Amino acid sequence: MAPEERMKQTEGSHKVVTAAGGKMAVGVRSIVTSLVAFFILASSVVFLLLDREAGLQEEQAIRAGGGDEECSWSRGRWVYDNVSRPLYDGLKCAFIFPEVACDKYGRKDVMYQHWRWQPHGHGCDLPRFDGIKLLEELRNKRLVFVGDSVNRNQWVSLVCMVEASIPDDRLKMRIFNGSLISFKALEYNATIDFYWSPLLVESNSDNPIIHRVEYRIIRADRIEKHASVWRDADVIVFNSYLWWRKQKDDMRMKVMYGSFEDGDAKLDEMEMADGFEIAIKKLTEWLAENIDKNKTRIFFAGSSPTHSWASNWGGQDKNKCLNETEPISYRPGGGYKAATTDYSLMAMARSYFRRTLEPRGIRVQILNITELSDYRKDGHPTVFRRQFVPLTKEQIADPASYADCTHWCLPGVPDVWNEFLYGYLVHV
Ligand SMILES: *[C@@H]1O[C@H](CO)[C@@H](O)[C@H](O)[C@H]1NC(C)=O
Ligand SMILES: *[C@@H]1O[C@H](CO)[C@@H](O)[C@H](O)[C@H]1NC(C)=O
Ligand SMILES: *[C@@H]1O[C@H](CO)[C@@H](O)[C@H](O)[C@H]1NC(C)=O
Ligand SMILES: *[C@@H]1O[C@H](CO)[C@@H](O)[C@H](O)[C@H]1NC(C)=O
Ligand SMILES: *[C@@H]1O[C@H](CO)[C@@H](O)[C@H](O)[C@H]1NC(C)=O
Ligand SMILES: *[C@@H]1O[C@H](CO)[C@@H](O)[C@H](O)[C@H]1NC(C)=O
Repeated sequence: MAPEERMKQTEGSHKVVTAAGGKMAVGVRSIVTSLVAFFILASSVVFLLLDREAGLQEEQAIRAGGGDEECSWSRGRWVYDNVSRPLYDGLKCAFIFPEVACDKYGRKDVMYQHWRWQPHGHGCDLPRFDGIKLLEELRNKRLVFVGDSVNRNQWVSLVCMVEASIPDDRLKMRIFNGSLISFKALEYNATIDFYWSPLLVESNSDNPIIHRVEYRIIRADRIEKHASVWRDADVIVFNSYLWWRKQKDDMRMKVMYGSFEDGDAKLDEMEMADGFEIAIKKLTEWLAENIDKNKTRIFFAGSSPTHSWASNWGGQDKNKCLNETEPISYRPGGGYKAATTDYSLMAMARSYFRRTLEPRGIRVQILNITELSDYRKDGHPTVFRRQFVPLTKEQIADPASYADCTHWCLPGVPDVWNEFLYGYLVHV
């Protein structure tokens, strides 16, 4: 088995963003810190006008499609489409993060922005994304992404997707407040938040800036501190995957029960995957007891694959995913699965949702984006991203240590994850 990927660089990139998160900045025009200065550009992306008839066909398609097995959005292929993709101009998105703004930080090839996901089967098309429609859906509502830096990547993507339809800078803003980052579309009173909570339950990794990576400790019975942030949300999109992977063969999760204050603290140690199960169990219990199923829609984003082992697709491991410019090609009849992607965690989470929540009428919709993302070895920032300290020439020449093959360039793959989310929110 291939050794597990190092996350050193990944963690470095948390710092970029959250260095800003530590201090609070309100308003579009605030300078957040000298490290992260945002240039606000009025965006004037002209959207393709939705052709009436095509729109109608899409709606019919959706009624047939969506979740059921016959017509699943999760199975399909990537189609090169430089007409309708990308969905927005990353260089014009005022709220993009430097860690995923690949074209801004030196990536010259642009094909990675031009792929459209085409589900198999007639009538299984994804609905065409319309930022205004989504904002209308979110009027007077709050959508919260809860999870790790990959979920934050998806949040940035959604913010760029919708802010392109708000040309007036005065009508949109972003607020950093510790673990919480808020985007507000003021005209709609719509909020799209990201909340840092990489292990779902409370843990020693909850500080968005300083989170230990080597020795993780979760608290088996504590989630309330996090839950209080998303309790009132209308839509929640959870994710959690990377932090449960072993970075070394002997890596184990420490699990704390009880508390020091109450004198009943107990520390256990277990396989990482068993820790994940504990967190999912606690999360589902909380949702079962607290969520207003008439109000809140719940999603769980599937595991996001990494492409750090080039030998998986016939390349050389030392290059990781550097210089990959095309997806892994689709093979009819058999999907591609990277050897390093663990599909079992999501399968386990799904069975918890079915057992614990569905009997109570609470549905957790999985955004099953693992396989489609698995094809996209070309979608990662590699060395083309802004880091806490910019990379030196020598570092750029050393992809084995410095290429990020975990997060995703924007515009790019997470835009499709958000097309799934949009499809469920607006059409299903
Ligand atoms: C789109 O791609 C086609 C085929 O690869 C190419 O001929 C065409 O010039 C491209 N158009 C744009 C606008 O880039
Ligand atoms: C604005 O949105 C929030 C949810 O984010 C909601 O609680 C509040 O009632 C809304 N305000 C109005 C005036 O509808
Ligand atoms: C920041 O978060 C804290 C609690 O987490 C809250 O009390 C405070 O009002 C927030 N500040 C703003 C400006 O939203
Ligand atoms: C949810 O909606 C159903 C049906 O409309 C209603 O019977 C039920 O009382 C509602 N529950 C809550 C908690 O509002
Ligand atoms: C990647 O591409 C650049 C520019 O084409 C080239 O200079 C570099 O040697 C390539 N690196 C690898 C590892 O293939
Ligand atoms: C996700 O979709 C794939 C097919 O692309 C399927 O094999 C897998 O079981 C699905 N996983 C979940 C958790 O729904």
